[in-house]
Amino acid sequence: MKPQLEKLQKDFKKALSEVNDTLKLDDLYQRFFSRRSGEMNEIMKNLKDLTGDARKEFGKLANEVKMELEEVYAEKKQDLKKQEWGGALEKEKIDVTQPKLPPQPKGHLHPITLVQNDLEDLFTSMGFMVLDGPELESDYYNFEAVNIPATHPARDSQDTFYIKGHNQNDVPNGTSPWVMRTQTSPMQVRALQKYGAPLRMIVPGRCFRNEATDARHEHTLYQVEGMVIDTDINFAHLKGVLETVAKHLYGPETQLRLRPKYYPFVEPGVNGEVTCTLCKGAGCRVCKQTGWLEIFGAGMTHPNVIKECGLDPQEYQGFAFGFGLDRLVMLKYGIDEIRVMKSGDLHFLEQF
Ligand code: PHE
Repeated sequence: MKPQLEKLQKDFKKALSEVNDTLKLDDLYQRFFSRRSGEMNEIMKNLKDLTGDARKEFGKLANEVKMELEEVYAEKKQDLKKQEWGGALEKEKIDVTQPKLPPQPKGHLHPITLVQNDLEDLFTSMGFMVLDGPELESDYYNFEAVNIPATHPARDSQDTFYIKGHNQNDVPNGTSPWVMRTQTSPMQVRALQKYGAPLRMIVPGRCFRNEATDARHEHTLYQVEGMVIDTDINFAHLKGVLETVAKHLYGPETQLRLRPKYYPFVEPGVNGEVTCTLCKGAGCRVCKQTGWLEIFGAGMTHPNVIKECGLDPQEYQGFAFGFGLDRLVMLKYGIDEIRVMKSGDLHFLEQF
């Protein structure tokens, strides 16, 4: 009987080593250890032919073998479980007893983004599209297409960074040098060429100028361009839209003042001012005692710009405006130094 037991031991271990899934493992267990028909059971039936010590000894041995085999069986079961579902069950298990991690600090939006989002909401509510344009722009779109030819003196006030040795070649007159855009106005032409008229759009975006920086000037600045083109647009529409923006930004009692100013791509052109947000028009340090703060440039779109986009200026008119987004942010939050905006300084940023 002992050899039978040894054979069972050997057979079980061999069969176990060949099993590779948990279902087959269960079958195997039943084959050897089922109470009714298992091989172990068959051996134990012979126990009744033994007596006294021999019977005791064999019983003990059979028990030891069974315990040993159950142990290797349990180990194998564990191993197979770990491999199931490509090991996912094992890898993805969560230790619910692990202590919680301390809360991680959350980021937040930059003040420029906050004001930009606010303006985007306002303008979309008035039916404007929000567009994005290239920061690396052609000299053609940045200047020529918006009525600033190569020899125009307006180029002096918007000196920029030219990209050496690169030309853009999808422009009407062949090729054009690349520049970092000095304004978002080139998008007036790009948008009209792409979408045609009627058109209502704004373009928030980053611009670059070759400036000596100080508390009010930066080489990298943000603007929000806007444009409306249709068949029956006049100056009152321009004033209405910009007044809405001014009151939205600085409160319902805010007043708007438009004074003539030259911009090559509009005619007439204006300079837009609002009553000082600090002194409400009485005169203070922020508004240099004038009671007014300049926040945008605007005007009726110049016929040359409309022509440049392939439209007939007799049929279509419109207006355009450009806000200095940094300036709007500075006025809203009472910031008196433009350079902190891009400083990455957490003392500044954490206030928003
Ligand atoms: N692009 C002008 C600037 O950067 C602003 C402007 C836009 C003026 C549209 C009039 C109309 O100064």
